[in-house]
Amino acid sequence: MENIWSKSTARKLDRKAANLIALPTKEAPQSSNEELLASDSEYVLRPWTGAGEPLPIVEGHGIYVKDADGKLYMDFTSGYFVNQAGHSHPKVIAAAIDQLQKVSQVSGRHASEPSIGLAKKLAEIAPGSLKKTLFTTGGCESTEFAIKMVRQASGLPGIACVDNAFHGLSVTALSACANESYRKSASAPLDPTFVRAPTPYCYRCPHATNCETQCVDQFERVLDEAPEVGAILAEPIQAVGGIIPPEKWWRRVDAMRRRRGLLLLLDEIQTGLGRTGSMFAAEHYGLEPDVMALAKGLSGGVGSLGGVMASPEIAAKFFGATSPTSAGNAVSCAAGRALIDVIIEEKLCENAAAMGRYMTGAVAERNLPWVGDIRFKGLLGGVELVENRDTKKPLDKRLIMQIKADLLERGVIVTVSGPLGNVIRIQPPLSVTSGQIDTLVTHLDAALRAACQKDNRCVDVQATCS
Ligand SMILES: Cc1ncc(COP(=O)(O)O)c(C=O)c1O
Repeated sequence: MENIWSKSTARKLDRKAANLIALPTKEAPQSSNEELLASDSEYVLRPWTGAGEPLPIVEGHGIYVKDADGKLYMDFTSGYFVNQAGHSHPKVIAAAIDQLQKVSQVSGRHASEPSIGLAKKLAEIAPGSLKKTLFTTGGCESTEFAIKMVRQASGLPGIACVDNAFHGLSVTALSACANESYRKSASAPLDPTFVRAPTPYCYRCPHATNCETQCVDQFERVLDEAPEVGAILAEPIQAVGGIIPPEKWWRRVDAMRRRRGLLLLLDEIQTGLGRTGSMFAAEHYGLEPDVMALAKGLSGGVGSLGGVMASPEIAAKFFGATSPTSAGNAVSCAAGRALIDVIIEEKLCENAAAMGRYMTGAVAERNLPWVGDIRFKGLLGGVELVENRDTKKPLDKRLIMQIKADLLERGVIVTVSGPLGNVIRIQPPLSVTSGQIDTLVTHLDAALRAACQKDNRCVDVQATCS
């Protein structure tokens, strides 16, 4: 397939993109997209894939990735929200290679310099009194251990979650998950001690007045009926669809759980490490969790690493076997430790906050068809697509997939999710520039208008597409 960006266009766009095109991928011979996809479909088990997926990616630098046919893309998902400083940041890779030459796997019964260094740094930057980290191999394992920790500390099995929650696909995590099709994948009854309260999805708020009060009152009623609950499990900001609670909501929920003596377990697996414009999203709301689950960016994109942070009191009550065999890999810990330095030195939290505002303005300015809501906190969020802005009826899934596939064809990777499956999620590396956002918005504009013009139900066609 021909490269969508010529060398000169890429050079104008970004020096890194130009380099990526100019340099042949190392170590030929290489398989083509077609060959890789044929083997992928035969040997790799995937429960599902979206439009244009899977894409065989052979190289990535910063926001750019290249497929096996040499086509270049801008990855506005950061490799599914993992590569906070972009793909293959040189300082992160250097730290990983340096560690690889010393030792990579150290048993959980023993200690390594990188895991100690990362845990110590996390204690320095984490909210409240969180101090100790139990390393895991990824997100759903962090959720599992975090749930164990709050259960052991509270002596109660029940967990209160919120609508639209996603905390991983393992069986206990699915009990906390709101998505029915994910829950069904457990193929067995889920834990009945998990209860669910409303989430503050303000764009579709069902309350005419006093919404925050009513929303939290409903939460109180759920808890009144659930004496077995000992902890609240939630993301400070929900990554699925970018649900950003108002400050008042979190303040009232936090006061309510303190009054009731409930522990707070925050899932910062996706919001942590700068994604929302602060090191942890808890900071936006002044939250001080008892336990916090981490993963994704924690490994610096090198291997798979998760962590569960606990206050000294909770950590002292934790019992069980040591830790999962492959948890706390020294190479991933060294890369993760380097990533935190990069986030601080390159002011990536500040950039994420500024670029989130820039993106909101740049999308709003275009008056694009079907755009019902634009929601960003830092670089977590997206654009909610509706058929009609008055009724807020979600845009047809088929059209959304068409738009996503068109963007991919144009060399832009995004993903789609949300409580109603109609949010185009845009979560680039925290180092994204305003120029790169302009490129995205130009392509989004073209993809939306092209789909709108083709679709005779588009009520925006007269207003925005003619
Ligand atoms: C908020 C949140 N929690 C948990 C998980 C599960 O993480 P993993 O996919 O590493 O198991 C995810 C993954 O997307 C997530 O976004």
